Order: sequence, then structure tokens, then C-alpha cells
Amino acid sequence: MSTVFVTGGAGYIGTHTCLELLQAGHKVFVYDNLSNSSRLGLERVERLAKGSIEFIEGDVRDGSTLEHALRHSQCESVIHFAGLKAVGESVKNPLIYYDNNVVGTYTLLNAMQATGVKKLVFSSSATVYGEPQSLPIEEAHPLSATNPYGRTKLIAEDMLRDHFHAYPDWNITILRYFNPVGAHESGLIGEDPKGTPSNLMPFIAQVAVGMREKLNIWGNDYPTPDGTGVRDYIHVVDLATGHLRAIEKIMPPQCIELNLGTGRGYSVLEVLRAFEEASGKTIAHEFFPRRSGDVAACFAGTKHAESILQWRAERNLKTMCADHWRWQHLNPAGYASNNDFAIKNAT
Ligand code: NAD
Ligand code: WQD
Repeated sequence: MSTVFVTGGAGYIGTHTCLELLQAGHKVFVYDNLSNSSRLGLERVERLAKGSIEFIEGDVRDGSTLEHALRHSQCESVIHFAGLKAVGESVKNPLIYYDNNVVGTYTLLNAMQATGVKKLVFSSSATVYGEPQSLPIEEAHPLSATNPYGRTKLIAEDMLRDHFHAYPDWNITILRYFNPVGAHESGLIGEDPKGTPSNLMPFIAQVAVGMREKLNIWGNDYPTPDGTGVRDYIHVVDLATGHLRAIEKIMPPQCIELNLGTGRGYSVLEVLRAFEEASGKTIAHEFFPRRSGDVAACFAGTKHAESILQWRAERNLKTMCADHWRWQHLNPAGYASNNDFAIKNAT
């Protein structure tokens, strides 16, 4: 049992990770500015875990509040989820991405340095591999960025590697997620996208629940078995247990990069069919030209995470769709939906 300080813990991956941490007996502090989340997610985590989380509303770019919160928590480690994640928005407004993701990580490192906390798990992304040169993508694959969001993750990774070089008694785990989907099996916590989702599964789920008319499929002329893009979808609960393992298994001193994926790719049409099966709904769709910046196929090499974390993703596409659907139809408008209805009907 240890104390973990979770920035961005009120968000999609954060809530699922807080639940795993609490269930494993850890004490959890969440530090979040609620720019893309609500308190309700954490309240539901507390209900599921029958435990409590100390919540501090704050911004990771606010060094003095952050340092005070870190000191107050007396934590041994930090998981850093806080940041912005929408690729399209990062192209339109790059500076807010550099501010939240790069300045935010820089401010956190300084606050950790000032308070003597030396263990960090960082949310990175498969986006740092750019256009895949070989598949599966292993951690040693060359790094590059194709959009401002990806560049902020790459800069943050480089900053962490430089910091470790200067302070080799630190313990830094850089987790590169592939495509997180799904929700906790209870249907009480899940992804709550603001506006029109740009990611595939939340969009499909909104078509299934009747919020949107049809899915636009971006490209059916890729060199893949059915012509649509192939990705490595990973259940968010598997992702969360990967973070738990990183907190529990990775010992200092080291700075290590690990992929979190399943090692298997599915096409857009395969995901669509699996979601139709899980929901019993027909997903209307139409083919459109490729989306700019998309790659044909991308899936993870998983052997390093498996051996170092003694972890592997366990939930298959059917479970990802079933769990995502349960969350979506119990909470059609996300956390703004009828709270009592969701709680009464949750499993
Ligand atoms: P999310 O938006 O649901 O969660 C991020 C949380 O951070 C939110 O609760 C938000 O309010 C908070 N936050 C944002 N900026 C902040 C700031 N300046 N100060 C304090 N809190 C702030 O996103 P998520 O899907 O849970 O992603 C978590 C992390 O994982 C992000 O860093 C993201 O870039 C990374 N990631 C996500 C995906 C994905 O597809 N979801 C894939 C790869 C990497
Ligand atoms: C998956 C597939 C689309 C929507 C992005 C970020 C990445 C990471 C995860 C944060 C592709 C197709 C999608 C739609 C479609 N995020 N698609 N119609 O692009 O692999 O990764 O999210 O780090 O950085 O780039 O995920 O879910 O957007 O797309 O046809 O309406 O679904 O073309 O083949 P992507 P995605």
C-alpha cells in the first residue's frame, strides 16, 4: 500500500486507474482542473471501490498550488494524466497544447523535485511513433510527430529522459497507449467526450444510442484486408491495470518506455460489426476519403510490457464493445445524464 498522486485523475483513463489503485489498497489523491471532466466520475469511483479519494481542484501549470498539494499528500509516486488530447484541436490551437502538455509536465517535474517525490508514471501515446516503419511497433521504433499534440508528447518524453539523465535516482515509466476504448463493466464510469467525438468507438456508440445519424468511415482503400484502417484497441480497464503494475513493479533507478496495447489490430469495419453485435443496433455508415494524417495500420509490440510489468491486456473486442455500450446507454449524455437512472441500472 502506498500513496499515489494522480494528475488528471477525474478523466477517462484517470477514473479507471483510480478505481484499480483503490481496489488494490492504495491511497489516492486526485489533482485536476476539471477542464474535461466532472466530480461525478470520482464520486462513482468511490462508490464502486467503497473507498475515498482526496480531491484537489487545481491546474498542473500552477506550480505553487501543485507543490502545496504534493506536499500535503505525502505521496510516494505520481501518475500524470493531466493534459489535452484532441489531435484536430491541437492543429487549430497548438499553443494551448504546448501550455497544458509541455508547461504542465515541466511544472510538475519542478514541483516533484522541490518536494522530493521521484517516482513518475507518464501518459504518452503511440502517436510518438509517427508513420509506422515496421509492425508490430516496438518501443525502439524511431520517434516522430505528425501533429502538435504528438509533438507535445514527444517533447514531454524528451524532457523526462533528460531529467533522468541528470537525476539517475529517479524512477520514470513512460507508458505509450495505443487506442483506449471501453468502460468499467459496471457502466458507471466511462469516456465522456465533449462535442463531436473524433475517435471511432465513442462515435459509433453515439450512433447506436441515436445521438448521431451515421458513422463516416475515413477511407476504404488502405492496404488492409478490408480497406479500412487497422488499430490496436485496448480496454481502458486493462490500461488501468497496466498503470497499477507500473506503480507496484517498476523499481528505481530507471527511465523506461513501455507500450500498452494488445498486439492485435482490428479494422474499422470489424469494430463496427462487433459493436452492432454487442448493442443489437444497426450502425449506419458511409465511406469517405481518408482522413488527413491517418496511417493504414498500427499495433503494438507487447513483449516488453508483458515481461517488465508481468501484465497483458486480457479483454477482447467483444468485451470492449459490450462495456462501452453499457456505459453509453446508461449515460447517453455522459455524466450529465440522469445519475439515479445510471446507478439504479448499473451492474
Ligand atoms: P481526459 O481528457 O478524459 O482526462 C484528462 C484529465 O486531465 C481531465 O480530467 C482534465 O480535466 C484534466 N486536465 C487537463 N488539463 C489539465 C491541467 N492543465 N491541469 C489539471 N488537470 C488537467 O483524457 P484521457 O483520455 O483520460 O487521457 C489521459 C492522458 O492520456 C492524457 O495525457 C492523454 O494525452 C493521454 N492519452 C490518451 C489517449 C486516449 O485516446 N484517450 C491515448 C494516448 C494517450
Ligand atoms: C481509429 C480508426 C480512423 C473516426 C487517435 C490519436 C492518437 C490517440 C488515440 C491520444 C482510424 C477511423 C475514426 C471516425 C473513422 N490519442 N475513424 N471514422 O486516429 O488511431 O488515434 O486516438 O493520444 O494520438 O491520433 O484513433 O479512434 O480517431 O481512429 O473511420 O469517425 O477509425 O480513420 O482508422 P487514431 P481514432
